[in-house]
Amino acid sequence: MSETTKSRATWSGKLAFVLSAAASAVGLGSMWRFPYLAAKYGGGTFLLMYFVFVFTIGLALLLLETSLGRKTGQSSIGAFKAFGKKYAFIGIFMSAVPFIIVPYYCVIGGWVTKYLFGYIVTAPEALADGGNYFSGFITSGAESIIFMLIFMALTYFIVALGVNKGIEKANLIMMPALIVMAAAVAIYALTLPGAMDGLAYYLIPDFSKFSPELIISALGQTFFTLSLAMGIMVTYGSYLQKSTKLTSSVSQIAGTTFGVSLLAGLMIVPATFAALGSGDAVAQNSGPSLMFIILPQVFENLGGAATIIGVVFFVLVLFAALTSSLSLVETCTSIISDGAGWSRKRSLIVTIVYVTLMGVLVNLGYSSLSFIQPMGEGSSILDLLDFISNSVMMPIAALLTCVFVGWIIKPQTLIDEVRVSARFRLANVWSVVIKYIAPVMLVVILIAYVAQTMG
Ligand code: PHE
Repeated sequence: MSETTKSRATWSGKLAFVLSAAASAVGLGSMWRFPYLAAKYGGGTFLLMYFVFVFTIGLALLLLETSLGRKTGQSSIGAFKAFGKKYAFIGIFMSAVPFIIVPYYCVIGGWVTKYLFGYIVTAPEALADGGNYFSGFITSGAESIIFMLIFMALTYFIVALGVNKGIEKANLIMMPALIVMAAAVAIYALTLPGAMDGLAYYLIPDFSKFSPELIISALGQTFFTLSLAMGIMVTYGSYLQKSTKLTSSVSQIAGTTFGVSLLAGLMIVPATFAALGSGDAVAQNSGPSLMFIILPQVFENLGGAATIIGVVFFVLVLFAALTSSLSLVETCTSIISDGAGWSRKRSLIVTIVYVTLMGVLVNLGYSSLSFIQPMGEGSSILDLLDFISNSVMMPIAALLTCVFVGWIIKPQTLIDEVRVSARFRLANVWSVVIKYIAPVMLVVILIAYVAQTMG
């Protein structure tokens, strides 16, 4: 491997790795995206598909990426290139994904920061005015940029402290705190009147709700929440010591992510159902604004408890968002540093400049640039970036990766790597998933999706 390997940071142990990978995985995807997708696609039906994907293709790819990273000691471009120059393009393609996600991720991080601030300084009614508060804020230009910059500054600060002192430490505090808070809010939400009907809607699949759109969304959500198909887990794997057991680590990462998404849904879907009265109403009202428009109305109905619940809720979402944006900024930094051979510091500065400028652009997509509606009437630059990364690039990147490992370097190469430190009894099953099941699923889904968008 190249000389960068020697100076690479390493995780201080298995716990640090699992925690940091889970912290990258659990984020706005679980807290903000999952509940609105579940609400939109019929509750239990979406939950079931998401479950199936996380524990098949998700787990298989998680193992693939981390073992590839550890074997090569490189972040994504270098990892593919290590097997021949001509494969570098897969890594390059993947590496573009975090650069697309991070600016809009920070924009939403800014929204979360604003709501936390809002619950601290204003009466909860003010935030529950049917969307005016939200649209007033996101179209404000300057104000929404300021909150985004606050969110970004927190992220940059932690990344600048380094892998061990910054990222690991921050995750060690924020992750357990967020899980405890999420469990508490979920339990509270379930005691609200009417929540039990909502719980049934959320947990019991309704098979008439299946659609190609639901399936592609569940798959995109799997990649997004597990931070797959964009090189992050390759990078995280490259910081691993050979003694860390990969099989149990990835199961814990997937389990935590699924668990937190489930909890996030429990916090939001039944309570929203109770407030709106039916599954159809939930589906119609859900969307990216579920957390910022409908949820404050749900909180408002709680009377005296609204402020405290609002604060706890947005603190926990902020923690989840921060631990993921860290991983995005860290990955961009590491890609630039490995790719250009620059120091970590210089690469971080370049990342910061890029993320800040792009973030401002995405932000202006709701104000002075709102005439840009790339995905039809009323859509935003943010919608476009979310669509391109999740629904287009990630499935393609996952497909390329599976073909690369399944058919070019062969699964055995990575099975050997996994076996350096763990027994891998399901190695054969894993090979089959990587060689056949995952690629076929991905191709079918991509085709179904293209057909649907065109037709
Ligand atoms: N997995 C994170 C989430 O669910 C998002 C993310 C994607 C983080 C890609 C890092 C990289 O919010």
